[in-house]
Amino acid sequence: MRKLFVYISIGLILGIAIIGFFASAFLWCYVVVLPLVGLGVYDMFQSKHTILRNFPVLGYFRYFFELISPEIQQYFIERHTDGTPISRNHRTIVYERAKDVSATHPFGTELDLYNNHYEGLKHSIYAKKPSQENPRVQIGGPQCEKPYSASIYNISAMSFGALSSHAILAMNKGAKSGGFYHNTGEGALSDYHLEGGGDIVWQIGTGYFGCRNENGDFDPDAFIDKAKHQQVKMIELKLSQGAKPGHGGVLPAAKNNEEIAKVRMVEPHTTVLSPPGHSEFNDAEGLLRFVDRLRSLSGGKPTGFKLCIGRETEFEELCDTMKSTGIHPDFITVDGAEGGTGAAPLEYSDSVGMPLEPALKFVRRTLEERGLHPEIKIIASGKIVTAAQLVKILSIGADLCNAARAFMLAVGCIQAQRCDTNNCPTGVATQKPELIRGLVVEEKYRRVANFHRNTIKATMELMASCGVEKLEDLSDDLFMHGWQWPPEGGTRAG
Ligand SMILES: Cc1cc2nc3c(=O)[nH]c(=O)nc-3n(C[C@H](O)[C@H](O)[C@H](O)COP(=O)(O)O)c2cc1C
Ligand code: SF4
Repeated sequence: MRKLFVYISIGLILGIAIIGFFASAFLWCYVVVLPLVGLGVYDMFQSKHTILRNFPVLGYFRYFFELISPEIQQYFIERHTDGTPISRNHRTIVYERAKDVSATHPFGTELDLYNNHYEGLKHSIYAKKPSQENPRVQIGGPQCEKPYSASIYNISAMSFGALSSHAILAMNKGAKSGGFYHNTGEGALSDYHLEGGGDIVWQIGTGYFGCRNENGDFDPDAFIDKAKHQQVKMIELKLSQGAKPGHGGVLPAAKNNEEIAKVRMVEPHTTVLSPPGHSEFNDAEGLLRFVDRLRSLSGGKPTGFKLCIGRETEFEELCDTMKSTGIHPDFITVDGAEGGTGAAPLEYSDSVGMPLEPALKFVRRTLEERGLHPEIKIIASGKIVTAAQLVKILSIGADLCNAARAFMLAVGCIQAQRCDTNNCPTGVATQKPELIRGLVVEEKYRRVANFHRNTIKATMELMASCGVEKLEDLSDDLFMHGWQWPPEGGTRAG
């Protein structure tokens, strides 16, 4: 009897195991193998992707690795001095300054100082004590009734739409806390700019977002309504930007939700392209008259324009027209071709416009030759991330500077370069609520202010090391360009 019981039990266990084996094989077959076979057959006969026709199913690995290649590059391959557009070392310095932790670098430089790209500051034997002051620059010529005292480092134009509501709010609160300005970008003035309480430069682009009529033309009443806001300190007319000069802005349909469309006064859920040029003017005099009109409509606030230099003769003609008409902008923002963008065609980013350094030297010289500087202030932008870069650009000819991507890094951007997909993993450049929630404004606004404060502090230290106490004493000869000894034409003995 007991034997029979044992045989029955063994039989049952074996039976269950065999059934289980066949059932799971059956399940595997249904859940995994059959769908893969189906997918393979589909791949073989679809006509869009050659790789999948030739390597059904396996071909997806290629797409997967292509998708995560920026992360592989950044996490496993990139060296400290690598990484574009902003190197790992420079990203790190932003993160450290934003978190207010030590931003020192151990063991010495990783750069090759013996190549021709080296640009070192010439320090002085008679180095000074760094000034504790936060230097300010007064903007506003005789034609302006409400001059503005600006910091030397500010947040460059980035629209609500390109950036999320939390990113805009964190930047603006940071600007308020640190006493510097925040440029709205061409995507209009939103409640998030105002909620933070920080100083604002309202930028008007070719789409006249926030101050347009139903045809997309400039609407003076809508302009006056917003320009009179006490937080709006200056007005900037955007002619072009370095990353895509001569190409209008692009707001992808995926990012153009109801809220953004309302702020911009456009149709929601459509791709919004702003025209390449302005409908309000088509020559130098028209441009200056429009600048003057914006200034008086704003109640006399400093008004200027932003451009990336293309044809030098056009800029020279513009400056000649300032002389002949007597109409002067209060500032000119020079954006280098190396500048950033939320979205631009690659050809424009790589191959159109003048880089910042030559552009800045040209603009400064052209204004000075006509006696227009220092009345017209020069603002510069284009990859100004570190204090050394800030000192360099101020020495070359800028009165003050703007930065866009540095402040994006300060609010948490990891340079994943997906800004145009609406899938920014850090909530900086997306309109998806589930991603935006990751960016905590109360934490990140402090980082914006810290980054600014620590960068200014480092700038003051560098200036003091060069024996320079005032901004006016900075000059181009503080820099050694490339490494050459003896200097060209000289001898070692001489
Ligand atoms: C996400 C993003 C959005 C931008 N949007 C604008 C804009 O609306 N108007 C504009 O004039 N420039 C815009 N820019 C350009 C910046 O204002 C700035 O001129 C340029 O990025 C150079 O600064 P950076 O090198 O410090 O980033 C944008 C840049 C970025 C990265
Ligand atoms: S994390 Fe990536 S997608 Fe987001 S803002 Fe930075 S670069 Fe753009």
